[in-house]
Amino acid sequence: MFSNPYLLTFSLLLSLPILFFLAPAILPPHPSPIPISPTDELDDINLFNTAISHSTPPSSSSHPSKFFHLSSKNPTFKIAFLFLTNTDLHFTPLWNLFFQTTPSKLFNVYVHSDPRVNLTLLRSSNNYNPIFKFISSKKTYRASPTLISATRRLLASAILDDASNAYFIVLSQYCIPLHSFDYIYKSLFLSPTFDLTDSESTQFGVRLKYKSFIEIINNGPRLWKRYTARGRYAMMPEVPFEKFRVGSQFFTLTRKHALVVVKDRTLWRKFKVPCYRDDECYPEEHYFPTLLSMEDSDGVTGYTLTNVNWTGTVNGHPHTYQPEEVSPELILRLRKSTNSESFLFARKFVPDCLEPLMGIAKSVIFKD
Ligand SMILES: *[C@@H]1O[C@H](CO)[C@@H](O)[C@H](O)[C@H]1NC(C)=O
Ligand SMILES: *[C@@H]1O[C@H](CO)[C@@H](O)[C@H](O)[C@H]1NC(C)=O
Repeated sequence: MFSNPYLLTFSLLLSLPILFFLAPAILPPHPSPIPISPTDELDDINLFNTAISHSTPPSSSSHPSKFFHLSSKNPTFKIAFLFLTNTDLHFTPLWNLFFQTTPSKLFNVYVHSDPRVNLTLLRSSNNYNPIFKFISSKKTYRASPTLISATRRLLASAILDDASNAYFIVLSQYCIPLHSFDYIYKSLFLSPTFDLTDSESTQFGVRLKYKSFIEIINNGPRLWKRYTARGRYAMMPEVPFEKFRVGSQFFTLTRKHALVVVKDRTLWRKFKVPCYRDDECYPEEHYFPTLLSMEDSDGVTGYTLTNVNWTGTVNGHPHTYQPEEVSPELILRLRKSTNSESFLFARKFVPDCLEPLMGIAKSVIFKD
């Protein structure tokens, strides 16, 4: 067909504009800014107001004894696990095993799932062991404030559902636990040595202060571009650039800080504005660290308990572990942290990692 080299060149040249024209139809659509509808906004405000009015006043972090009093015989404080997902929960069997390792009910589990997805694995597992509570959910999109809304919905629902929820942990379908439930519970509520960066919260071997574990970074190569993603002065005057922060949205918050997030109106008005450039638009990585560092920087550790591997990042996604990488050594490596005695969770893992993870669950992951 292309015996003539000129004809070949010509047809290749001709195909370029055709490719350009067809590309949007062939390639997956790039997320475009989708504003949050007034009805969705109203639903959220109603939920948040109900949560605020039903919650007991947040205890001051300097007097945690009222809220965090733990008697060893009757511990009443629970961990709320908040799953934010837009697919099935790939590691449901692993999480089921994790929750089964604890004899008494010291936790609640809430799921916000995009209404467009089938939760086959999760729902069938829930049929015989209903531990996952599905909260009223709305569609979520990458590079949009819908991910902030979904997280706030999870926090508000968990505050409302159980007054004993004291720590709130946000996880995704790609997260795995790195320890037993028992280890995680003791690390958060009891251990006087867990947080290596803060010796003042502990006196005479007793925890006096409970902090949120959320990554807060005040510099970064792209911070300015992200700050101006809605326009040069869009964040002013509430959020000057010096107060703009970045961090991971997979965090562990105290009840006090969960309430700060649910109560916030001021920063939300800024962060809900769609970006005009979506390549630098990750509102959920900025909203929570910025809000909490502005509201209570002494009450947060500034680091996360969820290990993410950013070596060799592609397209804003961290390194994603494959089945052949899963081993006891990987779990031990992922636990290592310079800020705390151990990381408690890790991401991201492809769904096929389930089998090798189940293989080392009892002998390695939950063995402590
Ligand atoms: C979800 O499940 C239903 C019924 O099993 C099926 O008809 C539908 O195609 C599924 N949707 C997706 C997105 O997989
Ligand atoms: C992080 O990812 C890189 C590949 O991108 C890999 O070589 C390295 O071993 C990973 N680190 C850990 C602790 O697994």
